[in-house]
Amino acid sequence: MTDTHSHLNDRQFAKDLEEVIRRAKEVGVRRINVVGYDLSSSQRAVEIADRYEGLYAVVGLHPYEAQRYSDSDLANVETLLSHPKVVAVGEIGLDYYRGPRDHKAQRALFRLQIDLARRHKKPVVLHVRDAYGDVLDVIRDFPDVLFVFHSFSGNEEDMAEILKWDNWYVSFSGMLTFLAHIRRAARISPRDRTFVETDAPYLSPVPMRGRRNEPAFVRYTLKRLSEIWKVDFEEAERITDSNAQEFFRYDMKRV
Ligand code: NI
Repeated sequence: MTDTHSHLNDRQFAKDLEEVIRRAKEVGVRRINVVGYDLSSSQRAVEIADRYEGLYAVVGLHPYEAQRYSDSDLANVETLLSHPKVVAVGEIGLDYYRGPRDHKAQRALFRLQIDLARRHKKPVVLHVRDAYGDVLDVIRDFPDVLFVFHSFSGNEEDMAEILKWDNWYVSFSGMLTFLAHIRRAARISPRDRTFVETDAPYLSPVPMRGRRNEPAFVRYTLKRLSEIWKVDFEEAERITDSNAQEFFRYDMKRV
């Protein structure tokens, strides 16, 4: 299994990180991405990835940063991209729900970082909240960059749009186990462009809701996906691992 999106860099894991990673490996989670959202969480993601086998980092500035980041933050993110265990730029995007009201500033930061990803030949992990249409408008301009809709929460119509673009991927979090409209969308999710994640410590899947989420729990989301797809668990695991490998290119030498 692959947990393509966790925040093991969150302070909620400061005390028992080793234990959490051990539990994940015990149940067969072989790869875990640790995702940043500002400069310090991105640096911490790289430190953690550097220390543990099977862990990788994703670095970038979340839309919350749109009005407070500095040019040097962006330059430092770019420097992190050359670390061999940094596999993507993220989580970046547009958040019109809780992000800064200056949507223009959000879009500017978003575009700058997609451009960074393209120059460094990295895929992009998207954070989208109440801004689906505007995100699509931006990413349509980058047909040569791979994008994943992290913790996909759209409906079938949204999924139908994603199906049209072969550089757009979808990642399901624990929300798949408790929201019916996401389950319906998952039925038509592209088999060659879908993978799973926890978004730990948030969004625990059924039957762990209400508890701190952790990478070992990705198996509940994968189990649910296998039922929706009507394949056995091992088949869903094989498919999503291979899609994650295709997208993040783990352990490949990159220029
Ligand atoms: Ni996240």
